[in-house]
Amino acid sequence: MRTNVVIIGAGPAGLMLGRLLELAGVDAVILERKNPDYVLGRIRAGVLEQGTIDLMDRAEASTRLHAEGLIHHGIDFSFDGDRQRIDFSALIGRHVMVYGQTEVTRDLMNARKAPTIYEAEDVEPHDFDGKSPYVTYKQGGTTHRIDCDYIAGCDGFRGVSRQSVPQSALTLYERTYPFGWLGILVDKPPVAGELVYAHHERGFALCSQRSPTRSRYYVQVPVDENVEAWSDTRFWDELRLRLSPETAENLQTGPSIEKSIAPLRSFVAEPLRFGRLFLAGDAAHIVPPTGAKGLNLAMSDVATLADALIEATIEKSNAGVNAYSAKVLQRIWKAERFSWWMTSLLHTFPETGAFGRRIQRSEFDYLCGSQAAQQSLAENYTGLPS
Ligand code: APR
Ligand code: PHB
Repeated sequence: MRTNVVIIGAGPAGLMLGRLLELAGVDAVILERKNPDYVLGRIRAGVLEQGTIDLMDRAEASTRLHAEGLIHHGIDFSFDGDRQRIDFSALIGRHVMVYGQTEVTRDLMNARKAPTIYEAEDVEPHDFDGKSPYVTYKQGGTTHRIDCDYIAGCDGFRGVSRQSVPQSALTLYERTYPFGWLGILVDKPPVAGELVYAHHERGFALCSQRSPTRSRYYVQVPVDENVEAWSDTRFWDELRLRLSPETAENLQTGPSIEKSIAPLRSFVAEPLRFGRLFLAGDAAHIVPPTGAKGLNLAMSDVATLADALIEATIEKSNAGVNAYSAKVLQRIWKAERFSWWMTSLLHTFPETGAFGRRIQRSEFDYLCGSQAAQQSLAENYTGLPS
């Protein structure tokens, strides 16, 4: 079998890339290790920047998003119970949309006309340093081979693509945090109209939402915490303690329909091109979820990659593929910086002690009193221009 582009991974990055290529008439095959239900079962963030919405429009996959997505004009900060709203619309005339990543994935799956090969085992990219790369995979005990012009590694943090590159060709930048987020999904209306990011000496908390009747809440926990140790009652009690009293009073609790712990990590691999292999999305970088940047960053990577691959395939110009890595890394590092900053402001760091807490407080006070600081937050949160 032969195609223009083999895409490894059918998460949001791989599916969006596949869709943009398909619409431009570039042939692409997507290889995914899991089945569609498994892919749709992963619960992840749900805040879309305007650039991501525009890309869903371009992918002709945005009808449901425009009907069901919730426009948010700001976010709320709470610091030891003191509150400050950041009004994106008033500050910079922009907003975000709350629409679950699961729904983005579903819409992209439904929009795709060409088949995606699910349950592909032992996927391996080969010879991407030369002119004739190919990818092998196994299905039902048979090994298959797909010859191609380019390979796109959209296979997430633990995927095979980055691991196939000689380690000497890669520079990895990484920071792990000594905590994770314990998240819970519940069929109850959200506690507030907008997202609430809360700092408390007991730890960070976030009140998010998926729809007018479904809410998502998180509390910071030690990285080695066991999810089994958290009954729903314990979770709700802890969350209430970390919110301002007015917010805690409005909290509607109920049985969790999902509960899990996610570690926090900052990670960037450089470069993102190795001959005819390109890395995009979580395969290339991870941000802690505090700035809601993971999905948006993956989407902006693949928008640039799609344009580069279309130009290379149809116009036979290598300008875009040559520029890809440097171009997307500029934006990636800005999102890394913002996500690290939000994480540093809002979490409790055991090692920084009383001095660290006073610095955090002072950062929050500065934010409350400075329109410039609020504008900076607003432009980063709603998405910097690409
Ligand atoms: N072969 C084939 N598929 C693979 C392999 C492999 N060896 N390894 C991983 N995959 C698949 C995974 O099963 C998954 O479906 O690649 C896909 C990667 O998807 P994601 O992890 O969702 O990554 P990405 O598409 O880059 O999306 C980024 O996900 O983690 C969030 O915050 C992040 O929202 C952002 C988004
Ligand atoms: C979520 O809704 O899951 C969510 C929202 C905002 C974040 C992180 C996660 O910053």
